[in-house]
Amino acid sequence: MKKLTKQGFNYQDVVSFGNMFLLANGRYGYRGTLEEFRKKEMTGLNMLGVYDKYQDKWRESVNLPNPFYILISGDKEYSLLTQKAINHEISLDIETGVFLRNTEFDDLVIVSKRFVSSDKKNILGCQYKVKAKKDISINLKMGLDLDIYEINGPHFTDKKCQINQDIVSFNGVTNEGKNLQIAGKYNVSKGSKATYIKDDIFGFNEDIRLVKDEEVVIEIIAQIGGIDLLNNRFDDLYESHINSFKKMWNNARVKLIGDEEAQFELDYSIYHLLILQDDNSVASVPARGLSGQTYKGAIFWDTEMFMLPFYAFTNPTFARNIIQYRINTLPGAKKKAKKYGYEGAFFAWESQDDGLEQCSDYNVTDPITNEPIRTYFADKQIHISADVALAVIRYVCASNDFSILKEGGYDLIYEAIKFYLSYMVKTDKYHLNDVLGPDEYHERVNDNAYTNMIVKNILEYAIHYYDQYIDTVKEKTFDKAKMQEVLSNLYIQEPNKDGVIEQFTGYFKLEDTLPHIVKSRKKNEKEYMGGAQGVATPTRVIKQADVLAELMMLNHPYGLDILKKNYDFYSKYTEHGSSLSSSMYCLAASKIGYLDDAYKLFRKSSGIDLGTDQKMYAGGIYIGGTHPASNAGAYLSVVLGFSGLNIDENGLILKPHLPPSIKGIKYKIIFRNKQYQIEVFENNTYNIKEVNNHD
Ligand code: IFM
Repeated sequence: MKKLTKQGFNYQDVVSFGNMFLLANGRYGYRGTLEEFRKKEMTGLNMLGVYDKYQDKWRESVNLPNPFYILISGDKEYSLLTQKAINHEISLDIETGVFLRNTEFDDLVIVSKRFVSSDKKNILGCQYKVKAKKDISINLKMGLDLDIYEINGPHFTDKKCQINQDIVSFNGVTNEGKNLQIAGKYNVSKGSKATYIKDDIFGFNEDIRLVKDEEVVIEIIAQIGGIDLLNNRFDDLYESHINSFKKMWNNARVKLIGDEEAQFELDYSIYHLLILQDDNSVASVPARGLSGQTYKGAIFWDTEMFMLPFYAFTNPTFARNIIQYRINTLPGAKKKAKKYGYEGAFFAWESQDDGLEQCSDYNVTDPITNEPIRTYFADKQIHISADVALAVIRYVCASNDFSILKEGGYDLIYEAIKFYLSYMVKTDKYHLNDVLGPDEYHERVNDNAYTNMIVKNILEYAIHYYDQYIDTVKEKTFDKAKMQEVLSNLYIQEPNKDGVIEQFTGYFKLEDTLPHIVKSRKKNEKEYMGGAQGVATPTRVIKQADVLAELMMLNHPYGLDILKKNYDFYSKYTEHGSSLSSSMYCLAASKIGYLDDAYKLFRKSSGIDLGTDQKMYAGGIYIGGTHPASNAGAYLSVVLGFSGLNIDENGLILKPHLPPSIKGIKYKIIFRNKQYQIEVFENNTYNIKEVNNHD
């Protein structure tokens, strides 16, 4: 598998590379920064599922002190922040989950490698070698960097560090009173270390004389929440990490025949999904993965609607954890519903450990005045509860694991429906008014097509399984007949005479203009285009797939002709301002047979984290980081789009639509406890065979 490699050093790429070269293991994420980097370069060791609130700032995931700080100095500092290197290269080995560095200065060479263990989840390792090109005296500083990069911190009220022989231990207490520990063991092949405590670095200091070609090796093993594994040999931990990382690929690799560039991007996308799975923890995947504190480290619909299919097909154990996380956070969703005056479960738009809403009412700022802008993601983006409920349904469909319905899954679906019943208003029909659809630009609209259709989908399912699972519902307030009545009278945006579905009532009356024209009306590059004052609001320009998300992700009665008409209509208005958008259009384009479009849209999703020009701001707020939903979108584009995988009442079916540059596709999926090997050939024929003993 090809490595991701970048040569040379450009300070302005530091933040993008931090995301691009991310290492993680489903619990901890370590950004792709260099050993001499500090807070300013956004060095970060991000934790999953541990959140903290400082004063009145946004509650966000916690970053731990960086255990891998190393700086060499001599006559000068051997740091890319202050010195030009002769050569500098970093790589990410996506097959093994290892970050590699090679930096040549005029009188020494640094070679380092680092991993976040995929098998021992609380272990991270870094090996750093310095080789002299001539006789030289150097000083090595290394240790835990307590000056932590945080967006809404500081999160530690109390930080204590102890140095005991070659181990540095940190004990911190967060504002919310959580006790967190990290310890690092620092091994140096030469010299005798002296304690070093300065500028928030707690560690060691070493003066070393190297003769030409001599090498000194630093090995750091860091452990979070314990010290029992620190005595392991670096090489042993490294080897077992690599073996376990390679294994994760067995179920997940998707081969694209004939297109190396696309293959690399798809591998890279899948890498970003693999580093977020952890079979042993019931937590879910944040929208920016473990790349930092963007979006408060919170979980959005991204996980259920985009990522879940990947995990369901490649790692059902982890897919179940994702569902379990929502079952566990149901009390939070009920509290949210109550707070807004509704019944049932209104899941958080931005969900953390407790399921309470973390999305602020002022989620963007005006970049010119710095004034917060009222947004309605939290209170009006009501499709979230149905997204979560549909994920339960989809998980059961892919796994046949009906036990989850008994163990809280059906109750969750019922509570989501309860919420919608209390939200609806009945006139001639049941309407879901004053909502925000997936296109977030048009706020407070009536009868969003996606929202109403997904509510219909979960009602249908809940009715179908009512008799079997109603006894598992804890607080029954309505019966099957009520659900049936609502289902038959729920307002659905039907295609108009041209076959186009109106995104919401009144959408067709908006100004008929295009994204580039609307963008040219912005007064500031970082300005938010949606909301009350947004330049897109009075127009048909939409941020991301909405009707197309409905047509590609939900059950509906419309055929190819309607899909084509809606694709043709909405493509021109869609800004693709969210990384969630292009995969939905890719799925549609594949199905319609617009294969050039489909291919370009796929590459947009698969290449999302490989550029240095990502969208870093939304209305003045930093939103940089990795994009696992887009990575998953790339997977969906190939598996559901190009290979045309679908599930009907008989099981798996395929209807391939290969774009010209892809001559074949080969992958495995786990479906209802069996694993299948699927091959699609150039002439769009295919072969499905069962394989035994899946991993
Ligand atoms: O969930 C998405 C939303 O659809 C668009 N804005 C970013 C969120 C997190 O990825």
